[in-house]
Amino acid sequence: MEYRQKNVDRLDELMSTIQKTDSIPTLPKIISKITDLMEDDTFSVKYIGELMTKDLSLSARILKIVNSPFYGFSQRIYNLNHAIVLLGANVLKSIVISTSVFTAMKESMEGLWEHSLFCAFTAKYIAGTLNKDKKRLISNGNKKKYIIDGDLVFSAALLHDIGKVIIATTFKNDFKKVIDTAKYDNISLIDIEYKNFNTSHDYLGYALIKEWHLPPSIYFPIKYHHNLALADEFKVETAIINLADFLTKSLGIGFSGSPYVERLNGEVFEILGIDIDFIRNIIEEIYSFKEELYVFD
Ligand SMILES: [Fe+2]
Ligand SMILES: [Fe+2]
Repeated sequence: MEYRQKNVDRLDELMSTIQKTDSIPTLPKIISKITDLMEDDTFSVKYIGELMTKDLSLSARILKIVNSPFYGFSQRIYNLNHAIVLLGANVLKSIVISTSVFTAMKESMEGLWEHSLFCAFTAKYIAGTLNKDKKRLISNGNKKKYIIDGDLVFSAALLHDIGKVIIATTFKNDFKKVIDTAKYDNISLIDIEYKNFNTSHDYLGYALIKEWHLPPSIYFPIKYHHNLALADEFKVETAIINLADFLTKSLGIGFSGSPYVERLNGEVFEILGIDIDFIRNIIEEIYSFKEELYVFD
């Protein structure tokens, strides 16, 4: 608890330093215009589509994502407006945000993008599998089946480690040293972040995403993805991100700052109503999609 409180105390100070030094990841103009437009629930797909075609790499990435087997649409989608409608505002916004920050991030931490994208696809796949199982009650004790929004889970997973971008851009060389230590000593990045910077990426990611006006169903799972026990809202979504993160690291896909893999939190089984066979089956399915990861290259 002391750890959380310190994180809260440190946040205001850190945020003002970040704002002063301009090290917070900034959204390119066209992207911030698109995200502003998307804030409005009645956003015009046609207008956003027109704006996006001005950024060719962004449009290409969106089409690649929507056409990837992970996303699972049966027909090939060639039209950007169609992709915008299919993905919906939150997923689109998450892709737009991650595109801009992960380009900058590639220099600081190679592999984080692959880690985040694989985690997003895995999380969405887990959500879909749980939703399909009619007998499974995943409702924290209620009798009603809880339906998970796979798109929100996708977005939260895609952005779950975005706080590392803030740390990397704020502390530059120190962060590189921290990554080397984590790698060399095979220890968890979150512990070493806290030791060195007095804050950690889960909390910073939550603060940033909240500031960028994404919904609580995205920023709460980000806040608690390493502290499932503290989550009191969106516990199912947080457990999915925690499991997807664990699977991504265990399969060695991408790089998230440390080769160390924390033990899977036992609470995940209880919250999601799953067993080890469920995890075995998930691994078989997701592993075959590994090659599809390079959709942003
Ligand atoms: Fe994380
Ligand atoms: Fe992660």
